[in-house]
Amino acid sequence: MADSDHRRAIAEDAVLRHLQNHHEIADSLLFAAQAKLNPDDIANAIKSLTGHRYVDSQEITKETWLLTEEGKTYAVHGSPEMQLFLSIPQEGITKDELQKKFDASSFKIACAQAAKNRWVDFGKQLVTRKIQHVDNDKVQTLLLRIQDGKDNVSTIDISQDDIRALTKRKLISLQVKKGFSVTRGPNYAPQRKKVATDLTRDMLQSGDWKNLEFKEFNLNAKGAPTEGGCLHPLLKVRKQLKDIFLQMGFAEMPTNNYVESSFWNFDALFQPQQHPARDSHDTFFLKVPLTTKELPEDYVERVKRIHESGGHQSRGYGYDWKREEADKNLLRTHTTAVSSRMLYSLAQDCAQKPFAPKKYFSIDRVFRNEAVDRTHLAEFHQIEGLICDRGLTLGDLIGVLEDFFSRLGMSDLKFKPAYNPYTEPSMEILGYHKGFGKYVEIGNSGMFRPEMLLPMGLPEDVSVIAWGLSLERPTMILYGIDNIRDLFGHKVDLGLMKKNPICRIGLECD
Ligand code: PHE
Repeated sequence: MADSDHRRAIAEDAVLRHLQNHHEIADSLLFAAQAKLNPDDIANAIKSLTGHRYVDSQEITKETWLLTEEGKTYAVHGSPEMQLFLSIPQEGITKDELQKKFDASSFKIACAQAAKNRWVDFGKQLVTRKIQHVDNDKVQTLLLRIQDGKDNVSTIDISQDDIRALTKRKLISLQVKKGFSVTRGPNYAPQRKKVATDLTRDMLQSGDWKNLEFKEFNLNAKGAPTEGGCLHPLLKVRKQLKDIFLQMGFAEMPTNNYVESSFWNFDALFQPQQHPARDSHDTFFLKVPLTTKELPEDYVERVKRIHESGGHQSRGYGYDWKREEADKNLLRTHTTAVSSRMLYSLAQDCAQKPFAPKKYFSIDRVFRNEAVDRTHLAEFHQIEGLICDRGLTLGDLIGVLEDFFSRLGMSDLKFKPAYNPYTEPSMEILGYHKGFGKYVEIGNSGMFRPEMLLPMGLPEDVSVIAWGLSLERPTMILYGIDNIRDLFGHKVDLGLMKKNPICRIGLECD
């Protein structure tokens, strides 16, 4: 028998035997103390016996005042105000001298209390007694009474004001204990019958089953919680977004490299090398390996040229483009790095076969060297979509965004001019959120610049419309989470994953 079962059997036995000669157990805590048994074992025994109706029980709560550590020392040595009073000689004493007899914190308390009781006069030069004698250290007396009395709160004869004062000084605290009052139940017997819990093959063969008593099914017992895999809210929303993209005919881009070179993350996107985003305050650069191994050299040359002196009707930025800057490895700051690789490889295909329009999407993690707060983490997930075709216009972008976001439940969009180094025109996307009753920022978008597309080798008349948004934002809105650290990172409560409801995006869709 396991140790806990054994202890429970002893506790059960004690309860049942007591009830053989007594009408009730008025207080199981007291009973446990008298029987020298563990009160938890007694409580468990009572619960089990109640379940089998050997006994009837009722929960009772018992409140007891206990001395705190500070309270205990005052009970032994007296209150600090009394000690202070006794340390003052008839002729008085300087405050400095007096202070030497105490430690800093108890001196402060002692002065405050003694002054409050009007026992002591704190004069300019001397501290003197205001009264000749204090007969009774009330605080100590009360504490001793509480300590010795083991009084129940309901029987204690100390005034409420005194209790309040002692609690406020943190000298006593209330301990609440739960116990039971117990009487015999309809199935009472002085000893618990052993009942069989399972019908076994042996019982059937031997015929023992005929004489055995079987344990009744407890149809009210709650089943053990089923343990199964659970998806994080971000994964659930990601799946729904992925389905939306797939329904719209988009193919997923490979996003399996968190580490990217500055070249694909910035340079290929016509982002100048002095751009503030390329600062280590905004971007995590890698120390090992510090630089990328290889880049497509002829393409690098074309990118260098477009940055330095332009081409394709652009004037470029007119600065000295540095290869070392492009080689630097970093944690990608946006999934547009994935899009730039993808478009470059599409352009390479154009050398072999005729250009065919494409629709691509990605959803994966990106990193930014940002101060962490309720809405920002140093890493988050980006959702990005792009369409690459001949003769696309801003109207196509607006149309596809309206289609995409209405599937997310946002059919009322507004667009605001914005700036990205790699898109022109660029638009911030605002969506009307019915719950918030206002327009909220939901993404960023634009048409990739010819300075980005033409050096890749895409045909002149091919345009690319694209947009990006975070995965965290819609997830937090859907699940009503207002602090991003409750959603992602080491502080997340695993219970969130087990208990969160199924939230469907797009249900508000008109
Ligand atoms: N890369 C942009 C961002 O990080 C999103 C974006 C993607 C903007 C594609 C325009 C086009 O916010």
